[in-house]
Amino acid sequence: MSKIKKIGVLTSGGDAPGMNAAIRSVTRTAIYYNLDVLGIRHGFKGMIEGYFKPLKAHTVSDIIQRGGTILKTARCPEFMTKTGRKKAYGNLKSMKIDGVVVIGGDGTFTGAGVFGEEYDIPFIGIPGTIDNDIYGTDVTIGYDTALNTVVEAVDKIRDTASAHNRLFFVEVMGAEAGFIALRSGIACGAEAILIPEEKDQVATLKSFLEDGFRRKKSRNIIIVAEGDEGGAIEIARKLKHEFKDYSMRVTVLGHIQRGGSPSVFDRVTASRLGYHAVEALLDGQKNAMVGVQDNEVVLVPFRKAVKLNKDVNRELLEISKILSI
Ligand code: F6P
Repeated sequence: MSKIKKIGVLTSGGDAPGMNAAIRSVTRTAIYYNLDVLGIRHGFKGMIEGYFKPLKAHTVSDIIQRGGTILKTARCPEFMTKTGRKKAYGNLKSMKIDGVVVIGGDGTFTGAGVFGEEYDIPFIGIPGTIDNDIYGTDVTIGYDTALNTVVEAVDKIRDTASAHNRLFFVEVMGAEAGFIALRSGIACGAEAILIPEEKDQVATLKSFLEDGFRRKKSRNIIIVAEGDEGGAIEIARKLKHEFKDYSMRVTVLGHIQRGGSPSVFDRVTASRLGYHAVEALLDGQKNAMVGVQDNEVVLVPFRKAVKLNKDVNRELLEISKILSI
């Protein structure tokens, strides 16, 4: 018999499409197992300030298709202090919360991991970030939707790029990682993809552009990960003087990538992981994230999820080079 009778759920860090689907799944699974559920608003800040609200099955109806997060989110430096975590623990205790599901990215899991080493209330994580930069899971909630948003936007940019024979640098999000850039770049047939995981790419891009211009390939789409060498604006600035014959433009896609209705893939992943997160708490698990590996749901300790480095798919990178000749 599990000791868990009441759980909390929160979203933290940058929002990602599919977080609502995860909240719905956690809530309804918990209710199915006769647990009470409290939504903790504004992430860890709400845990510290005491922003709790009961969630019922009907509270989470009509949200599976919505982007953003009904619980709101925040980045909370105070949770990284001992005083902040002590206050949070006090609030969880006074609300009689026996376990918490945290939905977020590496910052969220770092905080949850530290809390878990100090206090006895178990936390289970669900990876929710468009960046897909969490070790131990093939996918994070929101990544697929963000990719689709990027591809839709770049397809439109390609029309105007072709019409004017222009070279477009399109900057995509991803923090320090190139997952969004690499996968979306392949999907929209980019001529080059620049990601932080690869060194000296700007030098390679120069010879690519020289060669391309000789072959009269003046319409190009270059996808740039925001974390690569200062981002698209900086890279375009460096190249502008050397390639005066190219008509260059830069588009920074920005926060459009974080919004919108989640894709089927993200809704299903969120529903699966929400269910498994509650199961994990009931099984007495703690300090770990539920992730997906080879389409199986797995449990990965927070310490590994945040410390170990997830690499991009190198084969995809090679394929992208071959396909852009
Ligand atoms: O981690 C998600 C993310 O969207 C990153 O891709 C991006 O670098 C960052 O958050 C932007 O954060 P903010 O919304 O605080 O500007």
